Formats: sequence, C-alpha cells, structure tokens
Amino acid sequence: MKKNRISKNWINKQKRDIYVRKSQVDGYRARSAYKLIEIEEKFKIFKNGISVIDLGASPGSWSQYVCKRVKNGRLISIDLKDMEEIENTIQIKGDFTKTKFQETIKNYFKSKVDVIISDMAVNTTGIKDIDAIYTGELCKDAMLFAKEILVKEGRFVSKIFLGTSFNEIVALAKTIFKEVKVFKPKSSRKESKESFIICKILR
Ligand SMILES: C[S@@+](CC[C@H](N)C(=O)[O-])C[C@H]1O[C@@H](n2cnc3c(N)ncnc32)[C@H](O)[C@@H]1O
Repeated sequence: MKKNRISKNWINKQKRDIYVRKSQVDGYRARSAYKLIEIEEKFKIFKNGISVIDLGASPGSWSQYVCKRVKNGRLISIDLKDMEEIENTIQIKGDFTKTKFQETIKNYFKSKVDVIISDMAVNTTGIKDIDAIYTGELCKDAMLFAKEILVKEGRFVSKIFLGTSFNEIVALAKTIFKEVKVFKPKSSRKESKESFIICKILR
C-alpha cells in the first residue's frame, strides 16, 4: 500500500517536472542530460576530437549529450545495467570497480584520455547517509582511475552527495587536481543531496 503511494507520488512528480518534459522533446533518455549540459555551460569540459569515458552511463542521456557536443571524438560508456546502443560509441555492461573492466577500458584507448564523467550512484536504500557513503566510494574509485588514465590537462566530473564523506572526497580531489569546484545544477532536484565535483588539470 505504502509502496503504491510512493510510486504514485513519483509518477506525479515526473509529470510536473519541466526537465522530464524537455528530455522527451529533445530526445534524451533521461532528465540527467540537463545536469551535464549545465556543467558544460559553466565549466567548459568538452572539445571536438577528445576521448571520453562515461561511468554509470545507463540509460544513456549523458552519453547522448557527449555525442552531440563532441565531434570526431571517442566515447566508451559503462554501466551495471543494459544500455541501448549509441551509434559510433562503445557500451560495456559491467561493474566499473572491478579491475577486469578498468583494464578493458584502458585497452580500448591504449593511451591517456581527455575526460572522465561519472554519474554512478548505488541503488538507494532510502537511508540518505548510507547512500551518500556508498556513492562516495564510487566517486573515489572513479577519481583514482582518473588520476591513472587522464592526460595532464584532463577533466573529471563526478556525482557526489553531501554527507559524511563529502569533505574527504573534496580533499582527495585537491591532492590530485589543480582546480576543484563543487556545483549543484538547477536541474538537480532540490530535495536531493546530489552535487557534482568538477576537477581539471592533474598535479
Ligand atoms: C543516475 S544513473 C546514471 C544516469 C546517466 N548518467 C544518464 O544520463 O542516463 C546511475 C547509474 O550508475 C550505475 N552504477 C552504479 N554502480 C556502478 C558500478 N559499480 N559500475 C557501473 N555502473 C554503476 C547504475 O547502474 C545506474 O545506472
């Protein structure tokens, strides 16, 4: 009964949400696309011809935007879940935190990459602090991978939740990157603890 009420509320909220409606018009698979678009408008992450890794990519709206924004680039997307294909890009189904999949990504590029974006989030437990901690671990894994595989001028963007591990993650980012900013796009729901960390240039 309670579950039905929650899903009804969720459906009503989706119907009212301007970004959900906009994503249907613009052909994006999720409203999340607009978060990356806002990040790009403010921080200028992408250029034509670059290589990009999209972590936690399904259903694929960030990857769709990258394809539109980056002409003649290379994109590999990974997610635990299935993801519908995007032309001229590579999709991997797997757990990014496993060495096997990180090696697959490295072998695909065979050289350093320009940009890593991560919207990875664990399935929510409903307990906000726990969700923030688990998603924080994913952000740290992605950041350490970025340190290893990005070019010197590389850019790293990741979802991060306000919570107990927030300061620790920002501090870690500052040891790895010269420029570190935290930004909450307007399209990120106000009630969500989600923000994004935007990092540029390896130390
Ligand atoms: C918010 S969704 C991503 C939405 C996506 N950016 C888009 O625009 O369509 C978060 C995704 O992270 C994925 N994820 C969580 N843990 C992961 C892991 N260890 N490896 C790969 N993907 C993971 C989930 O399966 C989920 O699809």
